[in-house]
Amino acid sequence: MTDTSNRPFVVAIDGPAAAGKGTLAQALAERLGLPHLDTGLLYRAIGKLMAVRGFDLDDAELAGEFARNLAPEDLRRDDLRGREAGELASRVAVHPEVRAALVDFQRTFAARAPGAVLDGRDIGTVICPDADVKIYVTASAEVRARRRTDELLAKGRDVDYARILEETRDRDHRDANRAVAPLRPADDAVVLDTSDLDRDAALAAALAIVAAKRAARG
Ligand code: CDP
Repeated sequence: MTDTSNRPFVVAIDGPAAAGKGTLAQALAERLGLPHLDTGLLYRAIGKLMAVRGFDLDDAELAGEFARNLAPEDLRRDDLRGREAGELASRVAVHPEVRAALVDFQRTFAARAPGAVLDGRDIGTVICPDADVKIYVTASAEVRARRRTDELLAKGRDVDYARILEETRDRDHRDANRAVAPLRPADDAVVLDTSDLDRDAALAAALAIVAAKRAARG
């Protein structure tokens, strides 16, 4: 199978919270010279915008309205990275109205030459089902909770591993069991378990996966 066209080269990275997909996607994008879209930021921004204005995050219609009106500056807020915004994101992400409103933006980003790296939960399954490379990055819930706990401790925060583990499991459950675009590996995704890999080793493994797919594409 040889493809010599100039169509964009798209890398889809999906996986559960704290599996290391954000860091990996960013590093991979840099190495490949492609732009990177952290799609979680879109959901985080909607959750945060609604919460700061005191709106009900379970109101699907209203959340859809926020998603349709999302502006680039909303993604530049400095309060989107933390755990709280992640929780808010996973609550608004269950609404089909929200997901539908964000599809075009994500697909347009992926369709521009020379391609892109997108990370999220449904990139390989829903947003870019024809992506050239699909990597499902995962790690055990215990390892992911330990990483998140260590990150927070390093920032001087007072955290409890057991609580973080419980939150990690709750978020996995919500993401995997929602009716629309539940978290799961695409049938043609390569699963990359980072439980025993540090950042450099995970990047090396991902680059090897990309190289193999590129060779197959021609
Ligand atoms: O790094 P972490 O996984 O905690 O955060 P994230 O990737 O920013 O995602 C936050 C939440 O947004 C997830 O738990 C999902 O519920 C939701 N999300 C989604 O549903 N679809 C995406 N493509 C990206 C994020």
